[in-house]
Amino acid sequence: MKNKKKLIKVAIDSPAAAGAGTLARAVSKHYNLLYLDTGKIYRMIAFIKINQKKKFNQKYLKTKIKNLNIKNLQNKKLLSDEVGNEASVIAKNKKIRKLVHSFQIDCAYKPPKKFNGSCLDGRDITYKIVPDADFKFFITANLKIRAKRRFLELKNLKKKASFFDVLKSIKKRDKSDYNRKVSPLKKTKDSILINTSNLSKRACFLKIKKIIDKKIINNGNL
Ligand code: C5P
Repeated sequence: MKNKKKLIKVAIDSPAAAGAGTLARAVSKHYNLLYLDTGKIYRMIAFIKINQKKKFNQKYLKTKIKNLNIKNLQNKKLLSDEVGNEASVIAKNKKIRKLVHSFQIDCAYKPPKKFNGSCLDGRDITYKIVPDADFKFFITANLKIRAKRRFLELKNLKKKASFFDVLKSIKKRDKSDYNRKVSPLKKTKDSILINTSNLSKRACFLKIKKIIDKKIINNGNL
């Protein structure tokens, strides 16, 4: 019988706009992992709440989530600060978190065969969704730098935003994500801290690559 390939599972948690998405994408590309930005799932639900109020009920959400695939999370409309703020409100809801749980588990543990594993980023990935991940990272950066990055990102997307408003909304989201009762953002003891404040994207990627390569080389394929 053929040996079953051991999947590489990477779990990342981070506060908003710390650069986790960029890094997770680069890591996924390099190691051929399925990438899931779990924040997009909460953003999609928030988008429904904002724009399709009448449809915002458990039954509709259940069918939406049942038919969910990573491609339909790539909608640029999900990227606004308004949607992000609403996402952090609905993310406090235990029932909603339960609804999206199994989609995340499937992506993490059963990625399509063409991939070598999975890489998920979010707020509760390292301790709730993929607690047995092979690699766990907590990616952060100081508040002003995160706000600046987010502001530039919104400008590039041609979305109206002031630096001050972006700073305020990230601060508010941090407060809510770190302090909520259900699945709060936290750095687990077994996560490696990467502070991206003074590092280029390339430098951050190389830091993570070094950590992953070392373990892969030491353990054969893992
Ligand atoms: O990562 P992103 O900023 O797109 O996430 C939007 C919001 O979704 C976060 O502020 C957080 O409240 C929520 N979220 C969460 N758990 C995750 C991912 C995102 O609660 N795993």
